[in-house]
Amino acid sequence: MAAKHIRSIAVMTGGGDCPGLNAVIRAVVKTAINKHKLDVWGIQDGYLGLIENRLDRLSYNDVSNILTLGGTILGTSNIANPFHYAYKTGRGLQYKDVSDDCIKALQERQIDALVCIGGDGTMATAAQFAKKGLTVMGVPKTIDNDLYGTDVTFGFNTAVTTATEAIDKVHTTASSHHRVMIVEVMGRYAGWIALHAGVAGGADVILIPEIPYELPRVCDYVLARSSRGKRFSIICAAEGAKPKGGSMVVSHRVAGSPDPIRLGGIGNKLASDINGKTGLDCRAVVLGHVQRGGTPTPYDRTLATNFGHTAMDLLMKGVKNHLVVFKDGRFSSISLGRVAGRTRTVPKNCGLIRAAMAVGTSFGV
Ligand code: F6P
Repeated sequence: MAAKHIRSIAVMTGGGDCPGLNAVIRAVVKTAINKHKLDVWGIQDGYLGLIENRLDRLSYNDVSNILTLGGTILGTSNIANPFHYAYKTGRGLQYKDVSDDCIKALQERQIDALVCIGGDGTMATAAQFAKKGLTVMGVPKTIDNDLYGTDVTFGFNTAVTTATEAIDKVHTTASSHHRVMIVEVMGRYAGWIALHAGVAGGADVILIPEIPYELPRVCDYVLARSSRGKRFSIICAAEGAKPKGGSMVVSHRVAGSPDPIRLGGIGNKLASDINGKTGLDCRAVVLGHVQRGGTPTPYDRTLATNFGHTAMDLLMKGVKNHLVVFKDGRFSSISLGRVAGRTRTVPKNCGLIRAAMAVGTSFGV
């Protein structure tokens, strides 16, 4: 089914930024202009810019020389939901549905389709717009790698590379001072970054939300290493790691955000708990937003380029309201309706967990 009616598209980046966003923007815009002869608009700051009617035309030159650039030239926001838009009043935050205004902003410019580059929150909103008749195509972004339907999201590989480099560096100082060093990585409710960076960096203990840990097991493990002459240990902990029967450590809440909880603090909690039980000298390093910055790895640049190109080709073939995915070794797409409200966590029977356990890595159980 050919989609001859698409003459103009808009592209936006939503949610937390991540390496590779600009590579996708470049691929979408260049494919749209070069291959499909379309007009292209860029929406500033994600759904917030759509709500506030901030759109600009994008030319070929606007997206030239951005392949290797971190962040997003369009800007992003993770607090604006057009269907539940928070605004301040004298009585505190109030909410309203401004989705019709957003659709009007697109119609006024004769924009036929919207390419949404984002994570689960962005896709949930995109699915709501699709229900209202908008033609939407999603591209899966997030360092957390937790988007349902795709085996990988762009940004993840770069975040893992950054976290692995940090673990490598921590190794030498941990060894010099005979310390337990805990490296806390991001990932929200999924342990993908911790698992991959932990394995790649040779962490002795990997703690992920999917496998609640037992503190005595972690302590026994580092003490056993000490008694074997290994006088230091490296623990890679996902920000969502939690003890068995306990809860995740919440750093703060962001008022008005569709997903207000921000995790963080497990690294310092573990340092204090392990020191209290073992007497070993412990330090925590919280990598935080460093994992979201910098130039994308070659893997993420190529993945992002493939995703952006596939998104445009599918749209022009008449596919709509889908998320582009990389599944079982090939690029395809799935309905946004199937993605909305779901996340992809690390399965307990994951091959990498089995491999890590086989080489002696502890998961604290
Ligand atoms: O989803 C990406 C992510 O970096 C998570 O890993 C982290 O929990 C969260 O965003 C942090 O959000 P913010 O940038 O709002 O602090």
